[in-house]
Amino acid sequence: MASKKILVTGGAGYIGSHTAVELVRAGYEPVILDNFSNSERFIVGRVRKITGRNVPLCTGDCSVPADVAKVFKKEGRFHGIIHFAALKAVGESVAQPLRYYRNNVGGMLTMLEAADRYKVPHFVFSSSCTVYGEPDKLPVREDAPVKNAASPYGETKKIAERMLETFLQSGVPVKAVSLRYFNPIGAHPSALIGELPLGTPKNLVPFVTQTAAGIRKVLQVYGDDYKTPDGTCIRDYIHVIDLAAAHVRALGYLEKKRGPFYDIFNVGTGRGQSVLGIVKTFEKVTGVKVPYKIALRRSGDIAEIYAAAGKAKKVLGWSAKLSLEEALRSSWAWQKTLRSGKR
Ligand code: NAD
Ligand code: UD1
Repeated sequence: MASKKILVTGGAGYIGSHTAVELVRAGYEPVILDNFSNSERFIVGRVRKITGRNVPLCTGDCSVPADVAKVFKKEGRFHGIIHFAALKAVGESVAQPLRYYRNNVGGMLTMLEAADRYKVPHFVFSSSCTVYGEPDKLPVREDAPVKNAASPYGETKKIAERMLETFLQSGVPVKAVSLRYFNPIGAHPSALIGELPLGTPKNLVPFVTQTAAGIRKVLQVYGDDYKTPDGTCIRDYIHVIDLAAAHVRALGYLEKKRGPFYDIFNVGTGRGQSVLGIVKTFEKVTGVKVPYKIALRRSGDIAEIYAAAGKAKKVLGWSAKLSLEEALRSSWAWQKTLRSGKR
């Protein structure tokens, strides 16, 4: 059988590392390209430990053509590219927009050029539900209008999606999807890999686990005066293992198509959960209290978003299997691994 080598940019990161594990399980051969701007090398060792494979690592910047050329020279032909590598801190992107455009748009451009030049037939792009802005209708479907992005980070996702779509419109024999992730949470059941927030976490669940662990004093719940049942914001939290599996499904789907081909899928559970709902569920499944206080709304937050998950189910045969309880339990197990300092 022909080799099924997949170039996983950002494969040392949170979603990329879990996807590398799922790729091995599904018979693919992931090759990680990462510059460790938001991750640590030991995660690659953990991916190797979980999979029992010497998953290759190329250290380099995916926005730099010479770094990418080195990967192709060393590894030869690739069956696909999954392009995770990006900077993702929304607030930071407002303060440093050019750095975000350079990294995220430059990274997408370089990886598309590589797909073109080295004839890589399959391409999966990590997009975000942020492209929907504040949706007019819920659950939000893939054909909902793409709105003005609330941040340069969101803008980079919109631009990158358009780059991919227009690249395919030029008639290249590439098959591609953009996956619009909702809110990934949770960790691998081994508790060997998980999300590694650098500094004070901005996202809810890492802040919850760090507060439960006593690293942070109190969780601030940003606003309880939204028009939602308990007044706090609603999001669609998806287990990272389910999210990783969606990438494998997407590749299988693309393999059956003829290029050029492009499609877009939401990757969410289809269910919304409030901030206070997350706190309560976390306390229930772990037995650990999370001190919290109600704070002012965070600027840029929308009240409510959750996915219409029907298209991914119908077309990819993928749907989320794991519960919110399992996700939060695994986030807590991972927090304990991190606390133990074992690397
Ligand atoms: P992450 O920061 O954990 O992983 C990203 C990885 O990419 C890191 O290992 C980082 O070192 C690497 N990287 C960044 N720029 C690079 C470059 N120029 N060259 C090589 N490596 C580079 O983030 P994540 O949560 O795993 O997110 C992965 C992707 O999913 C990103 O594109 C992100 O925008 C997107 N996404 C994430 C979320 C989320 O909530 N985590 C939601 C929607 C979309
Ligand atoms: C954010 C980004 C989104 C990005 C995603 C992944 C915004 C507006 N959106 O999603 O573009 O793809 O991160 O990086 O920034 N909350 C608290 N207290 C906290 C932290 C969060 O109450 O300490 C609340 C937030 O107000 C929100 C919910 O928890 O209602 C989830 O927040 P977060 O985890 O930051 O994700 P998003 O804002 O949905």
